[in-house]
Amino acid sequence: MYDLIADQLRSAKKIVFVTGAGISQESGIPTFRGKDGLWRNYDPMKLATIDAFYDNPKLVWEWYNDRRRNIFAAEPNLGHKAIAELEEFVKVVVLTQNIDGLHQKGGSSSVLELHGSIVKIKCTVCDFKDEIFTEFSELPPLCKCGNILRPDVVWFGEGLPQDVWQEAIIHANSCDVMVIVGTSLVVSPANTLPIYAKKNNATLIEINPDETIMTSDMDSSIKSTSTVALPELVSIFKRASKM
Ligand code: OAD
Repeated sequence: MYDLIADQLRSAKKIVFVTGAGISQESGIPTFRGKDGLWRNYDPMKLATIDAFYDNPKLVWEWYNDRRRNIFAAEPNLGHKAIAELEEFVKVVVLTQNIDGLHQKGGSSSVLELHGSIVKIKCTVCDFKDEIFTEFSELPPLCKCGNILRPDVVWFGEGLPQDVWQEAIIHANSCDVMVIVGTSLVVSPANTLPIYAKKNNATLIEINPDETIMTSDMDSSIKSTSTVALPELVSIFKRASKM
């Protein structure tokens, strides 16, 4: 398996990683649909839609506050760090559905956050935006204009930030290799990125301990966790680039 992947990586000039919750699972951040996934215990329609937010902003903010606490305490794992290390050898771009900032904390310099970021907040009415790393004393927090602030993340039914998405498509369209790590690939439009890459004849490599709905479309599928597979991938890339 890894020999085949070494062949696929040898001539790569640009590698795009598409990542999801699974890459941060080994940093202690739960996935959404995995074994202890958040959506197994919580109803996304009550916590991750604009209607749910207006129905009960305090409840949604309490949930985000808990997640903020957990994420701020988390450290990047060997998987995040391996992706960052790869930048020494080849152009690397990370397109992530995660809002936890762990790729940047792990050293990656080119990260597009498709679903926003948990440190960012914005006003529901005016143009105010900010990054807040501390806890909110009152929930829901209010903007200077008097209206409610919300997490600057993408909720179900909302569009992705268009500038970020357009840039993501450009990278997907122009990579030689796309590595898809820790995502179930059930959420659109992020799950169309491998299709853009395939149209450009890129090699698709999936890293996931479980099958996904697109496993059979991959050129290679590594059935392993990201802290095991990504350092291995980097070391075979190092060997391949010396040949
Ligand atoms: P999911 O929870 O849907 O999928 C996580 C994937 O990670 C699963 O396929 C797991 O098998 C895999 N996995 C679990 N542990 C892993 C590990 N240690 N190493 C590698 N893979 C592992 O998460 P996403 O695909 O990221 O959106 O979910 C996509 C979007 O759905 C999220 O961004 C979020 C959610 O609703 C919004 O909130 C808008």
